[in-house]
Amino acid sequence: MKRFIVILCAVLLCGHAAVVKQSGRSFPKDFLFGTATASYQIEGAYNEDGKGENIWDRLTHQVPSPIKDQSSGDIAADSYHKVERDVEMMRELGLDAYRFSLSWSRILPTGFSNQINPAGVDYYNRLINEMLKYNIQPLVTLYHWDLPQPLQDLGGFASPLFGQWFEDYARVVYTNFGDRVKFFITFNEPREICNEGYGGTGFAPVVNATGIGEYLCAKHLVTAHAKAYHLYNNEFRASQGGKVGITISVNWFEAETDSEDDKLAAIWFRQGSWGIFSEPIFGLEGGFPKELAERIAEKSAQQGFPRSRLPEFTDEEREYIRGTSDFFGINHYFNARVSATTYPVNPAVPSLNDDVGVDLIFESKRAESTSGPVVKLSNVMLLLKELYGDWDFYITENGMSSAPGVDDTARGLYYKAALENCLDAIDDGIKLKGYMAWSLMDNFEWMQGYTSRFGLYAVDFEDPNRPRTPKHSAFVYKRIIKDRFIDH
Ligand code: NOJ
Repeated sequence: MKRFIVILCAVLLCGHAAVVKQSGRSFPKDFLFGTATASYQIEGAYNEDGKGENIWDRLTHQVPSPIKDQSSGDIAADSYHKVERDVEMMRELGLDAYRFSLSWSRILPTGFSNQINPAGVDYYNRLINEMLKYNIQPLVTLYHWDLPQPLQDLGGFASPLFGQWFEDYARVVYTNFGDRVKFFITFNEPREICNEGYGGTGFAPVVNATGIGEYLCAKHLVTAHAKAYHLYNNEFRASQGGKVGITISVNWFEAETDSEDDKLAAIWFRQGSWGIFSEPIFGLEGGFPKELAERIAEKSAQQGFPRSRLPEFTDEEREYIRGTSDFFGINHYFNARVSATTYPVNPAVPSLNDDVGVDLIFESKRAESTSGPVVKLSNVMLLLKELYGDWDFYITENGMSSAPGVDDTARGLYYKAALENCLDAIDDGIKLKGYMAWSLMDNFEWMQGYTSRFGLYAVDFEDPNRPRTPKHSAFVYKRIIKDRFIDH
């Protein structure tokens, strides 16, 4: 009898443990914990060993420059000279994966693939090999915003030839690194590349052709992505067996009220912000999102354009681009409610703001209380699944910024809340395969220079050796990775 009771208790306890597990506070065994960085933001060595000039070199070297603190990525965190230390930090954190980007102009100084820079290839080989020694999986982004300047001089993403240049570069990347890299991201954040870089002035190359430049860029970018995907399929997949996908910034936007105006504004805004890039690749029919296309066509006609400012796809192009991804990479930073705009725009003049402009009411991403910040990663993934089906999702970036030197408690809370939210998504049946914290270390935050810090490790930018020191959040993340579990 006593034995029976012991067995019964054991069964009940195991059952309980299983229930606790199913309630979702443990991460799946194969879940990838990682961090992310980007070449221009960390590497420095902007003119060393044969690297060519890129659009961020050009922008930051303007006097005066549009960078908040007049800084540049000339030295940044000096990662070009710190392969061992960078990988040591990954080991300290216990990472499964590290996402970094390749500097196109370090590998191909003119942007064109007839001239490969061996020192550039060597740097990435050393980094990849050092990571693999410790079983840290490389997730490689081909393009994280640092376009070779000679290609920009020829129009950059506004040129219909952009896809060819990118395909040629992709071939060099697969050929040189694909034996060891099994996960490629073509583009990081098309919205920021196109809407800010070509439609506005938020990022290099500040073309500022609003209402036209971003749409041209969008078409050429998704085409270039598809070319790189097909190239991998046709010539490399059989021998290398990796994955190729894209990372899109998908922030959470919901209508402020139930009014038809707000609901429609939210649809247009989502489509202008990310649907314009995700629909052609992940959408069932491909092409640009319907509501957005109708809106821009109507506006264009009113403004006297003989055709829509949003370029079209031929049926052949639509089919060529549709379905060209092995996963959906998501960068996520904030949530906002959307209401139909109250600010004046001049509807006679074409602009992205007139096409999809709204008033945004931001939810603070900072932890102001111990209840922690509101992170809506799971909402984003559920919406994407509803729109596009059951893709493998990777959070390829998520994190929060702070001013230099402030107490790091909030960042620790932020990561904990974000990872709990990832578990919620997994419980809801989302195929979430990994999470990359932005960022491994403090770095050059684009137009904000060094005034905004995202790192798990602090970098001392005053010290020529650029020493790295773990912050509180590094210990929080390390603990979660070690346990693969979050307790309350
Ligand atoms: C997303 C971008 O990919 C990255 O480069 C940037 O630093 C972070 N957002 C933070 O703003």
